[in-house]
Amino acid sequence: MIRIGVLVSGSGSNLASIIDACNEGRIDGEVSVVISNVADAYALQRAENRGIPTEVVRHDDCPDRQSFDMRIVSTLEKYQVDLVALAGFMRVLTPEFLSRYSGRVMNIHPALLPSFPGLGVRQKAIDHGVRFSGCTVHFVDAGVDTGPIIIQAVVPVYPDDTEDELKNRILALEHQIYPRAIQLFAQGDLEIVGRKVFVNNIMKEDSQCLINPPLNN
Ligand code: GAR
Repeated sequence: MIRIGVLVSGSGSNLASIIDACNEGRIDGEVSVVISNVADAYALQRAENRGIPTEVVRHDDCPDRQSFDMRIVSTLEKYQVDLVALAGFMRVLTPEFLSRYSGRVMNIHPALLPSFPGLGVRQKAIDHGVRFSGCTVHFVDAGVDTGPIIIQAVVPVYPDDTEDELKNRILALEHQIYPRAIQLFAQGDLEIVGRKVFVNNIMKEDSQCLINPPLNN
């Protein structure tokens, strides 16, 4: 049973999917604390509705990034957190933070990394005209969206998609792959070797293939 600390800044739909997976036994763990850098983030409401402790650490109250991160570290230590899950947390963590939680910080990103790191990525994918995008759960390193990839899911992209349409298509898969990545961690089935994450007992599917637009329709 792992203790998970979830860091949020916004709506918290991924947070809800993680809490629900814990409650339904799809994750051998519990969300011990939800920490937000935004005092009125809806994610806090979602956590409170589900009986999860919440803490607000406002970056504006801290003189620099290091002191903000160290306040988050002390909050995570108070709740004895094993794994830190960033779920729509819109701050870049310092190397000092990451050295405390080496190999124990995950993030979800709404694109197929290493394509489209950073912000505004759904609209960028539509504007680029890619046929597929998706989402990625990865371990966090000192870069922006550069850490070792744990799991990805793919969705089609259509040239007339609105940002909201693509967002919702991707979000539905985010809610499936983030709990899965956390459960693989909880089971001890993830091994980081350099840039790669090896997953124990994985079923290889050589025939899996997606083509958009389809070959015949
Ligand atoms: C999610 O789409 C997540 O992938 C994205 O923010 C959204 C948060 O939604 N994260 C990033 O863009 C991080 N670079 P949520 O608050 O409803 O989970």
